[in-house]
Amino acid sequence: MDKFVIHGGKELNGTVEISGAKNATLALMPAALLASGESVLYNTPELNDVFTMSKLLKQLGAEIQFENQVLKINSATVNNQIAPYEHVKKMRASVYVLGPLLTRYGFAKVSLPGGCAWGPRPINLHLEGLKKLGAEIELDEGYIIVKAKRLQGAKINFDKSSVGATGNILMASVLAKGTTVINNAAMEPEITNLVNFLLKMGAKIYGINTSILEIEGVDELHPAEIETIPDRIEAGTFLIAAAITKGNILIRGGIDAHLYAVLSKLEDAGMHIDVIGNDIRIDAQNIEPKSIDVSTGIFPGFPTDMQAQWLALMSVADSVSTVTDTIYTDRFSHVPELIRLGADISVQENNALIKGVKKLKGAKVMSTDLRASASLVLAGLVAEGVTEVLRVYHLDRGYQRLEEKLRQLGANIDRVAGQEF
Ligand code: EPU
Repeated sequence: MDKFVIHGGKELNGTVEISGAKNATLALMPAALLASGESVLYNTPELNDVFTMSKLLKQLGAEIQFENQVLKINSATVNNQIAPYEHVKKMRASVYVLGPLLTRYGFAKVSLPGGCAWGPRPINLHLEGLKKLGAEIELDEGYIIVKAKRLQGAKINFDKSSVGATGNILMASVLAKGTTVINNAAMEPEITNLVNFLLKMGAKIYGINTSILEIEGVDELHPAEIETIPDRIEAGTFLIAAAITKGNILIRGGIDAHLYAVLSKLEDAGMHIDVIGNDIRIDAQNIEPKSIDVSTGIFPGFPTDMQAQWLALMSVADSVSTVTDTIYTDRFSHVPELIRLGADISVQENNALIKGVKKLKGAKVMSTDLRASASLVLAGLVAEGVTEVLRVYHLDRGYQRLEEKLRQLGANIDRVAGQEF
């Protein structure tokens, strides 16, 4: 297991290129199962989660080629509809194969994802939606088994907005017979990317970018090509890296409309933001961050995937702030580790109360999930002395060579490989 060693206190300056969005790719890849033949995904990030999804699709029989951010998926050879526990336990997004396999082959057997570092993450909405579309569902030895001759369009109302359930039901319904309406559909940009891909494959979907999607099922789809959108969470993480080190960074390819809530909170915290086409400049030089409250919400609200990074920034802000996570109410495993670096944070239920401190001090820290690790790296960038972030395999799931990108901006950060830390 690798670790990062960070000598904090360097101001970050320069330009950083944003990679393709992990959470878009993880939906686009299974969507390629919906049509026989080769689909091509451009701007695909090189991430461990993408490699895990590739392995899963190969296990189903698909052929995969991945070079220079271009991912080719040939689904003509798919001959197996079983997603085993070994894959699903590594990555919950594996559950995305459920909808495409069921609608295309009439059968799928997918391991039920287990718990997660921050508590239960149910998939009841995915299953209720598939049932509405006519699927027979049973649970056997930890596997969900779904069957249907041909899915039938239906009206589906999600009690809660869910990215994964919206993606799964979208993929299932494009080949169903008749019309499906998804009410309270997720509007995250990654879902819009998926809708655009499905449209290119020949699907009929109305209401793109709204919370009511209407899908007119078709008999067949064809393979297609799509560009993956830039990763708004990676872009947001670099925005905070500039803010926390009082630097000045040009974020290339970080679409501002996908980051509105984060940019607006950064402005409230005193940062200067300029949007130049698809690029965003943040100037935080000589600016003491102000303490600003944040509550996470579904898009276009403040993303839960930026909560941990915001908390790192607020740890060194000028006063007192609160951070509330309304999406994942116990996603705070980074807090005890930030406290090891000298932060003053207390958590009650889903609220963190952060009293800004003048400085953080380096220490060994460890994390149990992707965004928590990002928050510890950010804190390490500003902490005095040396911070070691252990178990960075969590980071490698969702950030493409984060340490190299940070080093190009002037950070003193090294990866120490291959030992048991
Ligand atoms: N929920 C249910 N039932 C369901 C599904 C979700 O109650 O069947 C609840 C969840 O417990 C949560 C809320 O609905 O409270 C939203 O969950 P959602 O389904 O939207 O999350 P997800 O699809 O499992 C995706 C991202 C996450 C991101 C969330 C929220 C992917 C692969 N994952 O997860 O990304 O936090 O949306 O925006 O797209 C990350 O990248 O670090 C990450 C965790």
